[in-house]
Amino acid sequence: MSSSAQLKIGDKTYDLPIIEGTEGEKAIDISKLRDQSGFVTLDIGYKNTGATQSGITFLDGELGVLKYRGYAIEQLAEKSTFIEVAYLLIYGDLPTTKQLTDFQYEISRHTLVHEDMKKFFDGFPSKSHPMGQLSSLVCSLSAFYPESLKSNQTKEELNLSIVKMLSKMATIVSWIYKKSLGHPVMYPQNKYDYVTNFLNMTFGQLTEDVVIDPVVVSAMNTLLILHADHEQNCSTSTVRIVGSSESNIYASVSAGISALWGPLHGGANQAVIEMLEKIKEDGGDTDKWINKAKDKNDPFRLMGFGHRVYKNFDPRAKIIKKACDDILEKLGINDEVLEIAKRLEEVALKDPYFVERKLYPNVDFYSGIIYRALGFPTDMFTVLFALGRLPGWIAQWKEMKQNKEPIGRPRQIYNGAVNREYVEIDKR
Ligand code: SDX
Repeated sequence: MSSSAQLKIGDKTYDLPIIEGTEGEKAIDISKLRDQSGFVTLDIGYKNTGATQSGITFLDGELGVLKYRGYAIEQLAEKSTFIEVAYLLIYGDLPTTKQLTDFQYEISRHTLVHEDMKKFFDGFPSKSHPMGQLSSLVCSLSAFYPESLKSNQTKEELNLSIVKMLSKMATIVSWIYKKSLGHPVMYPQNKYDYVTNFLNMTFGQLTEDVVIDPVVVSAMNTLLILHADHEQNCSTSTVRIVGSSESNIYASVSAGISALWGPLHGGANQAVIEMLEKIKEDGGDTDKWINKAKDKNDPFRLMGFGHRVYKNFDPRAKIIKKACDDILEKLGINDEVLEIAKRLEEVALKDPYFVERKLYPNVDFYSGIIYRALGFPTDMFTVLFALGRLPGWIAQWKEMKQNKEPIGRPRQIYNGAVNREYVEIDKR
C-alpha cells in the first residue's frame, strides 16, 4: 500500500501520509491539511476520526476483539484480578509478584478519604443520583491534595496521585451507597484485597460481622475487569481532552464520570434494567417492545443493544451473559428479567431491523442483572461502571500526558448569521 493518500481539490493534489498501527489499522494523517489546503474535515460524532495513537487497548469491531495491552479480554477475565489489570493498563505490563504486592500495599495506604469529605456527603439530598455525587466528590479530592494541581508532576508525584485516585474511589463509591440507605459508612480494612475491601465497605455492617461471599468477589472482579478500558469511548475521550488542558487527574476523572452518566453510554446499564422491569410489568411481551424499538416514530430504543464500534458482537457481553447464568445459579437466584433479556436477545438477533443495522447486545445488556443479583440497587450500576473504568481513564490520561499531546481543540464549520449590525433594543 502507498505510504500516502492523494486528495484532489480543484486543480491541486495534496499528499497526506498514511499511518498503520501494530494491529493493521490504517489512518490518513490530516494534521497538516488546513495549513496546506485551507480545508478542515467534518465528522460529527467522530465516527471516522482518530483523536490519538494509543498503546493501551485495541478493539476490532468487526471481529469482536478486545485486548488490553495485547492481552485478550477472555484470558484476563478468566485468569486475572481487577487490581492486576489496573496495573497492566496503567504501567503497560503484567506485574511481577513483588510489583503487584507493592502496588496493592501502596493502594492500601491511601484508602481513607479525608474526614471533611463527609461534609460534602451530608450536603447531598438522600435520593440524589449517585453519579452526580461521585463526579462532585472525585473533583473535590483536588481540594484535599493540592499537590495534584501541579502540571509538571514528578514521576513519584504522578504515581501518588494515581494511587490515591484508585484507592479513594472505592471508598467514595461505598460511602455513596451507605448514605443512600441511611446507614453508617464502613471504613476500609487494609487486610483485604481491593475488591473484597470495596464489597466489605459496601455490604458490611457496624452492627454485625458480614462474610463477603467469594462468589461475589469473583463476579465483581470479572465485571470490573470487563469495564476497565475501551479505547477512545465518550468518557475516555472526555478524560483525555480535559487532561490536555493540564487539568489535574481528579478534575479529569470527574469529567469522565459526568460523560459516562448518559443513558447512551455508561448509564445504559441502569436503563437496561429499567427497560426490562417495564417489559415485565407490561406482561413480558417482548415482540411489542421490539416493534417499538424499530418504530422510527417511537423514541424507545432497545437499551443495551448496539455499539459505535462492535458491529458483530461485544465480547464483554458474551462473557457477562455466561457469568449471569453461573452467578445466579450459585447464588440460587431466579431473576425473571434475565429470562426476558434472553428472549429479547433471541428475537432481536433474528429480526432484519437489528441484523441489517448490526445491533447486538453490548456490555450493558447483561451487567445490570449481575449487579442486581449481587445486591446493588439500579441507580448504583453506572457508579460501578465508573469504578471499573477508572484504571482505563487513568492509563489514557497518563499516556496523553507522557506523549505531551497538545491541548484538544477541534475545528468547526460555521453556518450561522453573517455580518449583522447591532440594533438598539427599542428598535428591535
Ligand atoms: C457503552 O464507545 C464505547 O466503547 C462505549 C462502551 C464502553 O465500554 O465505553 O462500550 C459502553 O456506552 C455501550 C453502549 C451503551 N448504550 C446503549 O446500549 C444505548 C442504546 N444504544 C444506542 O443508542 C446506540 O446503539 C449507540 C449509542 C450505542 C451507538 O449509536 P451509533 O453508533 O451512533 O449508531 P446510531 O445511533 O447512528 O444508530 C444506527 C441505526 C439507527 O437507525 P437508522 O437511522 O439507520 O434507521 O441503528 C439504530 C438507530 O436508530 N439503533 C437502534 C439502537 N441503536 C441504534 N435502534 C433501536 N435500539 C437501539 N438500541
